[in-house]
Amino acid sequence: EHTSVAIVGAGPAGLLLARLLHRAGVDTVVLEGRDREYIERRQRAGILEQATVDALREAGAGDRMDREGIPHDGIELRFDRRAHRVDFPALTGGRRVMVYAQTEVVKDLVALQLAEGGPLLFEAEVREVIGADTARPVVHYRHGGRDRTLGCDYVVGCDGFHGVVRNAVPDAVRSTYERVYPYSWLGILAEAPPVYDELIYAHSERGFALASMRSPQVGRLYLQVPNGTDPADWPDERVWDELDARFALDAEPGWKLRRGPITAKSVLPMRSHVTEPMRYGHVLLAGDAAHIVPPTGAKGLNLAAADVIVLARALTARYRDGSTALLDAYSDTCLRRVWRAEHFSYFMTTTLHTDPEQSAFDTRLQLSQLERLANSEHAAAELAENYTGLLISD
Ligand code: FAD
Ligand code: DHB
Repeated sequence: EHTSVAIVGAGPAGLLLARLLHRAGVDTVVLEGRDREYIERRQRAGILEQATVDALREAGAGDRMDREGIPHDGIELRFDRRAHRVDFPALTGGRRVMVYAQTEVVKDLVALQLAEGGPLLFEAEVREVIGADTARPVVHYRHGGRDRTLGCDYVVGCDGFHGVVRNAVPDAVRSTYERVYPYSWLGILAEAPPVYDELIYAHSERGFALASMRSPQVGRLYLQVPNGTDPADWPDERVWDELDARFALDAEPGWKLRRGPITAKSVLPMRSHVTEPMRYGHVLLAGDAAHIVPPTGAKGLNLAAADVIVLARALTARYRDGSTALLDAYSDTCLRRVWRAEHFSYFMTTTLHTDPEQSAFDTRLQLSQLERLANSEHAAAELAENYTGLLISD
């Protein structure tokens, strides 16, 4: 078996890359370790930047997103029991974001790829990549109870944080940078129509809370909890009471969330991680396989999309006219954006969460920073630009 580009992992990065390369006439095979139902149900991100929206349209996957996605023109910051809106278009020259869940992005891309793309194999777990520094790398994987191999020109590791393709880069060449945070998120999905039109990011002395949504009927909400928290310790009433307490406003004492059945509840640890370089020989890394951000800035999925937009252009140039200049620049081009997003995600996370070791001094600094965002257009514009996303050419 042989293909031009072997793509490991059918998350947003692998699927979008496969679609963009299909459109450019480049052959691919996608190998995904899990089954289709699993990857289509995995609850994760919900916010798409403009550049991600544009890329999904270009990949032919924009129809349902444009019908069912909800454009958002800002977010609300709550702190000190007060609310402040950050207006994205006014601060960025017209940029906005789209609420459309990762589960739906994945479903749309999978359906397209199966209908008219190269092979997409489920339950095909990659074990190892051999020959990364040769022109003919080989992917070893297990499928249908048998060990198989796939030869190719390039292997792209879109296999997430726990992926194996990264191991094809020798230790002597690879650097990793990491930070683990002393808190996690308890995330819920609720069949309860959101009472807010825009996302609410709340700093409170009880810890961080975030109100997001999946549709006009379904809320997605998050609470800061200690690392190691067991979701079983959070019965539904406790979750709703705590959310209401963290979102409380002095000016609107009656402000409360609408409650409804909680259909999913899980705890997510938070980490920052970057692997450099993102290319070694004929192996390239994209998305969570190369970098993780804590979710507070809504950057994870968007960074994954940005990587593969850059990579699709580079591989297209390589197959159209033999030019490898863009491929040679791939790692540096992506890492500039990755580090900007790492900083922004760290900034949002540490400004809004309460570290268990936090002093009163630290809390005062956070509140001063939040005041600055509320009172200075310059500070708010910096947040808005980062949140809505840097342009791909930046
Ligand atoms: P993934 O989506 O992780 O896809 C990798 C794929 O590779 C998976 O399908 C996996 O099964 C497959 N794979 C792994 N190993 C192998 C192998 N050996 N062989 C074959 N296939 C393999 N971001 C936000 O912005 N907001 C959020 O609220 C948010 N919540 C998150 C919650 C969780 C629990 C996690 C893990 C992430 C969350 N993220 C969030 C981050 C965001 O979802 C990711 O950044 C995004 O999924 C990255 O896409 P990806 O395609 O790079 O990786
Ligand atoms: C969602 C997740 C985030 O991390 C975020 O910053 C905004 C929204 C979400 O899952 O909807």
